[in-house]
Amino acid sequence: MFSEDFLIGLLRARRITVLTGAGISAESGIATFRDAQTGLWERYDPALLASAEGYKEDKSLVWGWYEWRRAQVLKAKPNPGHLALVELERFVDELTVVTQNVDDLHERAGSKGVIHLHGSLHHPKCFSCNEPHEFANTIPNIAIEGERLEPPRCDYCGGSIRPGVVWFGELVPEEAWQQAEDAVIDSDVLLSIGTSSLVRPASMLPDIAIVHGAKIVQINPDPTPLDSKAHYNFRGKAGEILPTLVKALSDLI
Ligand code: OAD
Repeated sequence: MFSEDFLIGLLRARRITVLTGAGISAESGIATFRDAQTGLWERYDPALLASAEGYKEDKSLVWGWYEWRRAQVLKAKPNPGHLALVELERFVDELTVVTQNVDDLHERAGSKGVIHLHGSLHHPKCFSCNEPHEFANTIPNIAIEGERLEPPRCDYCGGSIRPGVVWFGELVPEEAWQQAEDAVIDSDVLLSIGTSSLVRPASMLPDIAIVHGAKIVQINPDPTPLDSKAHYNFRGKAGEILPTLVKALSDLI
């Protein structure tokens, strides 16, 4: 599956940036957004569930939906794809994970310093004053998909707590973006895994990498707009290809 040239290129890389999307968590049972039939945006309206306007219109619907998603994530486990990325660290001086995912499966697999471009399901904040809100350390009691739940109140100002994810029309957190861009500019390889490469600004990171001379490697079972720009396209599931890659690298050294 992997040519020796490709493997040697990876081993010579001083720094690799890994850009992940919902596809890497799919094998943990977490739904993606745009996959036919199973994607969340195939079944739900992002204008209602992923915008400040939608939240203002129906807070308990939106809060319940994100609590349902958080419950799914808390019950899920990192899969062989997440785990293989931690193993990959052994073969390069520096590996930075930049994710669009709002779950914590990279961290639970053992990745350190993960950059979250789209925030986190686990770090909600006040809709009015932006103060962070701490969750009780339990799985939310949401059994039914689509169940409404009144959001908690902010301890500081009494405002409504909102999910800590970036919604459409909102900016990616400046610090996370800066860290991601710095990592990409400094990398010899950008590995794009499980993302449809359709959402900006994350989808711009491979272009920035190319301008700075990096090789682009993509792992995805389906075609994406990145296919024509990537130097290497591996068609398949992250949870199968990444462990095979780690094994091939171990066999070579
Ligand atoms: P998408 O749902 O747009 O794309 C998921 C990608 O994962 C698709 O290209 C699939 O082909 C691929 N895929 C599916 N199963 C896979 C597997 N087992 N291994 C590897 N790849 C697999 O998800 P994202 O690109 O992450 O924003 O979407 C970007 C953003 O759009 C999300 O972060 C979300 C959404 O609106 C926020 O939540 C803020």
